[in-house]
Amino acid sequence: MRNSIEIMIEEHTYIKRLLKVIRKASLDIFNGGKVDADDFEDMIDFVRNYADKHHHGKEEKFLFVEMIDHLGPLANKLITHGMLVEHDLGRLYMSDAHDALDKVREGNEESKLDLVANVMGYAYLLNRHIDKENTVVFTFAEKQLPKVILEKVDASSHRFEEEAMEKGTQKYYIDMLERLEAKYL
Ligand SMILES: [Fe+2]
Ligand SMILES: [Fe+2]
Repeated sequence: MRNSIEIMIEEHTYIKRLLKVIRKASLDIFNGGKVDADDFEDMIDFVRNYADKHHHGKEEKFLFVEMIDHLGPLANKLITHGMLVEHDLGRLYMSDAHDALDKVREGNEESKLDLVANVMGYAYLLNRHIDKENTVVFTFAEKQLPKVILEKVDASSHRFEEEAMEKGTQKYYIDMLERLEAKYL
């Protein structure tokens, strides 16, 4: 069975694929294309429920808490002032993107700019964030956390994954991603 860090690294690849869709859909608007509000609603839904609730949920509830507890001030700084701040900033971008999308739906032309600015701000932020986790944060955890703690993180993550699987969460969002890729890439 894959360990929790392997699962989270795989989720990063799905999230990065969504970021590519966001970039291409934004470029289409730039080039004069119409905003498909339902597609942007789906992209925001993917970010909020798959990238944030499902993926960041595991990081925050299971892995990061153990890093803060067991790996000293350097880990605390890296997590509390780095990763968690970036998760929050991502939420702010999405909330502003959603507000802009509502205004676009009402016919406000200028709000297209706020929609693109916020989803692209999110895409830059998350690409950098994911690279940092893959190369620094997760490797730090794997090397430094005691084996028994890593096993505890795995057990909690596996339970969480199974509950989500029963609700069909992973399949729902990966199918959504594939539909958006087929349309935009
Ligand atoms: Fe993260
Ligand atoms: Fe992550």
